[in-house]
Amino acid sequence: MTSKEIKIAYQEFDAIDELEAKDRELAQAAVEATAQAYAPYSKFNVGAAVLFEDGVIVKGANQENAAYPSGLCAERTALFYASASRPDKAMVAIAIAAGQDGHLCETPATPCGACRQVMAQYQLKSGLPMRVLLVGAHKIWRFEKVDDLLPLIFDSI
Ligand code: THU
Repeated sequence: MTSKEIKIAYQEFDAIDELEAKDRELAQAAVEATAQAYAPYSKFNVGAAVLFEDGVIVKGANQENAAYPSGLCAERTALFYASASRPDKAMVAIAIAAGQDGHLCETPATPCGACRQVMAQYQLKSGLPMRVLLVGAHKIWRFEKVDDLLPLIFDSI
């Protein structure tokens, strides 16, 4: 028997201003996208912004439904829109922000498991690491690739 350990590295910033220019733009786009959430049930507004290799950014926000499972998280709304609208372009980063009543969460909200798996799929499709920025009011976390949020990713078929 061999014991093994997986370590996750990420960077923490205290403000969006500390990010490099493109990441700052992406983080701001995710914050803006929170205003486009349709979340009449949870009142939890999530915004996501996807960056393509050519610099284009597309946004998405969570969309809820009276039949709860029919709604969709912000990340998947943004990723599916990104892939459906620009199928031949590589995605290189995603930023996620969340808040309530117009205020961002203090600590970054972290993506659900299903969204992590979908991020992993588009990272695989792009063939490039997909950076993940989680944007809170006073902390921003940057992961260099989806694997850091989803160790031992399923991509075997
Ligand atoms: N939500 C997201 O948009 N992304 C996540 O990763 C987790 C949760 C949304 C779904 C629902 O509209 C609300 O947040 C409360 O769960």
